[in-house]
Amino acid sequence: MDKFAIEGGVALRGEIEVSGAKNSALPALAACLLTEEPVFLHRIPRVRDVRTMEKLIAYTGASVERNGGPLKVVAKYLAAPEAPYDLVKTMRASSLVLGPLVARCGRARVSMPGGCAIGTRPINLHVAGLEHLGARIRQEHGYLEAEAPQGLRGAAVHFDRVTVTGTEDLMMAAALARGETILENAAQEPEVADLAALLAKMGASIEGAGTSTIRIRGVERLHGAEHTIIADRIEAGTFLIAGALTRGDLLVRGCVPEHLHALTVKLRQAGVTVEESGADALRVTTTGPLRSVDMTTEEYPGFATDLQAQFMALMTQAEGISLITEKIFENRFMHAPELIRMGANIRLDGRQAIVAGPRELTGANVIASDLRASASLVLAGLVARGRTVIDRVYHIDRGYERIEDKLSQVGARIQRVEAR
Ligand code: EPU
Repeated sequence: MDKFAIEGGVALRGEIEVSGAKNSALPALAACLLTEEPVFLHRIPRVRDVRTMEKLIAYTGASVERNGGPLKVVAKYLAAPEAPYDLVKTMRASSLVLGPLVARCGRARVSMPGGCAIGTRPINLHVAGLEHLGARIRQEHGYLEAEAPQGLRGAAVHFDRVTVTGTEDLMMAAALARGETILENAAQEPEVADLAALLAKMGASIEGAGTSTIRIRGVERLHGAEHTIIADRIEAGTFLIAGALTRGDLLVRGCVPEHLHALTVKLRQAGVTVEESGADALRVTTTGPLRSVDMTTEEYPGFATDLQAQFMALMTQAEGISLITEKIFENRFMHAPELIRMGANIRLDGRQAIVAGPRELTGANVIASDLRASASLVLAGLVARGRTVIDRVYHIDRGYERIEDKLSQVGARIQRVEAR
């Protein structure tokens, strides 16, 4: 397994470019299953989860090509509307194919995802929503077997709690259902709106994506389209925090500042200068001391749970006590014990972490436990004295495109040590 070796203590300076959003690319690839015609997707990041989704849609019968240009997907014949356990177990977002497959093929067989490092992460809301649209779903041998031989029909679906991929799954299914579907208490994440934009280009009729009520009028068929995925706000946020933490001067290019609002508000409260530089770039600089601020993760437009671990690394260097509350997932503090091994003063109490700073971090051997936890350890390594070695960086490769190259270009001393 590859590792990262980081020599800390360098302020990051220069420009860093953001890739396309992993969490937009995944539903976009699933949406390609809704039409027989070619779909061209630009700015698809080369990260492992996207590769897994490519394999998954290829397994169902779609062809996926990338010859330097956009990703081209043609789902002409779907001989196997199935998502096998071997692929699903490595990526929970595989459940995104359930809605499109049952809508297009009238049946689907999708493995239930197993456990996950950050919480139990059930998919009951995807299932209940599709049942509202008329799918019959039973669970057998670890698989969900869904059927809708006469096709799906529009319905009102109220989500008991906000679910991002659940909203996306239902939106895709409803696009080919007969009649109108109304999704209430829908996720408002920019990735949901991006998926709606792609579906609209494919001929779907969708209103309200990006708000909590989405109306979808089903159509008989969808057609091919060309679409550019939005910027990855979590990657951009990780870089902004890296710039702030190392007291650098970093220009994060190719992002959407509006999507990062909750983070930039917190960064400014913490004493970091964040400036917009044109329509698609943010510059961070830190001159004075970092101050502690409290933070609670929430659904968009609140503070993203996917940036909580990175923000905790920042708070280890801030003066005072910071109370970090994780409201989305029940077990998303796996990075804290590793940060503590590097010298941080963090106390965990259920869904809250109390971080007292500033504490000098020193390099250590640490283990990445999930994608965003790994990012937080990379950030801690950048500011720690001496050498940090992070094991199991395959987690970071799931969602960050060449992070070591990007960070090296702005001065970080970070190297991938390949497993022999
Ligand atoms: N939930 C249920 N039942 C469901 C679905 C969700 O109880 O059927 C619960 C979850 O257990 C969780 C909460 O609802 O406590 C929210 O989960 P959500 O469904 O919104 O998460 P997700 O769609 O599985 C996406 C992102 C995650 C991100 C979350 C929250 C993708 C592919 N994944 O997951 O991204 O953390 O939304 O914003 O979009 C990451 O990129 O590192 C990542 C984990």
